[in-house]
Amino acid sequence: MKPYIPPPDKAITHRALLLAAIADGNTRVDNPSLCEDTLATAACLKKLGVGISASKNRLLVKGLGLGGLKKPTGTLNAGASGTTLRLLSGLLAGQDFDSAITGEDSLLKRPMSRVAAPLELMGAKIRLSGGRAPIYISGSALKGAAHRLTVPSAQIKSAILLAALYAQGATSITGRFRTRDHTERLLKHLGARISAAGLTIYLKPGRLKAKEIRVPGDLSSAAPFMAAACLLEGFRLTIKNVGLNPGRTGLVKILKAMGAKISVRKTHYAPEPAGDLTVLSSRLKGIRIRPGEVPAMVDELPLLALLAARASGTTVINGIGELKLKESDRIRATLALFMSLGLKAGAGKDSLVIKGPQTIAGGRAVDTFNDHRIAMTAAVGAILAAKPVKIKNPGCVKKSYPAFFKDFKKIFH
Ligand code: S3P
Repeated sequence: MKPYIPPPDKAITHRALLLAAIADGNTRVDNPSLCEDTLATAACLKKLGVGISASKNRLLVKGLGLGGLKKPTGTLNAGASGTTLRLLSGLLAGQDFDSAITGEDSLLKRPMSRVAAPLELMGAKIRLSGGRAPIYISGSALKGAAHRLTVPSAQIKSAILLAALYAQGATSITGRFRTRDHTERLLKHLGARISAAGLTIYLKPGRLKAKEIRVPGDLSSAAPFMAAACLLEGFRLTIKNVGLNPGRTGLVKILKAMGAKISVRKTHYAPEPAGDLTVLSSRLKGIRIRPGEVPAMVDELPLLALLAARASGTTVINGIGELKLKESDRIRATLALFMSLGLKAGAGKDSLVIKGPQTIAGGRAVDTFNDHRIAMTAAVGAILAAKPVKIKNPGCVKKSYPAFFKDFKKIFH
């Protein structure tokens, strides 16, 4: 079977665009993700005066330097992208102009005080709408601060780091758990004075220097393919050039601990580790997941629940309260998906308990709750189900992976 090449990483592309926009000089972003979310980031940056042009599988960003962004005419629109809205809030807090950011309905329901509060600690002037977007920012002089984060979120951390580039004095951020460090790696790549010790990151303000950025494949987009290859009889799939940032590879680690046959070949490292994965059809056994293991697979938990339903024994996934605040309430959406597929799971306050192995009956329509990750999990369920499964509103995958169903059908017919 031909290897599968996942689409470029969405999270890294957002950050590449945002940082290139304020670097000195022009940055070539190779293999950028072009999905609804990253296009929303590019559109916002264009409104801030940043020149972004596309040529074959590459974006060229004309960096304006730290002080070069222009006051946008009108409100910026982050679409349905939480990463765009939260990271832009950090970037815009320290500008010498005012701005406002809004988004689509689903984004307007998501909490934003988690990002406004630490920025306000640095002197940012932010007005929310009942704790949510639209968000109004009065550009102001910022000062460095020592942050302690209670929510394990790479978006909050990244917003603070972007603001910290503009602050007077150094900033530190201490988290309870490690989260994906794409922003830290790219900042370092572009010459920022950033370091880390244990769970604390230190950043001194300063200018960034443009440098080519190569984006690897998106592990979260590849995850449904990995799950399907594990669960189908006699399957073997090689996934080429996928990002292997340790803050993202939680599902690979957990699947291996569940007995999955996955081999990893690392191919390159700068600024992000990447490589090839070979996944063989495997017999899985249940597992217990601790809260500290959740951030490295935060977007793969509905998939893990489905994998657990096919594994023998009990799986307990603890510490998943954050899932209620994603594109949908993913605990509710996962339970609804289970019901539609004819599967059973128990839910606690922020945990799921799944006993396996169960058979997937199918035969019913599945609600995606307009959530791309639920639609992709449903696609894996559908190929394993005894009866056909109809997925409602499959177009929601455009948020992260427009060609998902085309690619999935190519490999799993
Ligand atoms: C992301 C971080 C995660 C993740 C989201 C993308 C990022 O969100 O769920 O899809 O790019 O930093 P949180 O920061 O809210 O955990």
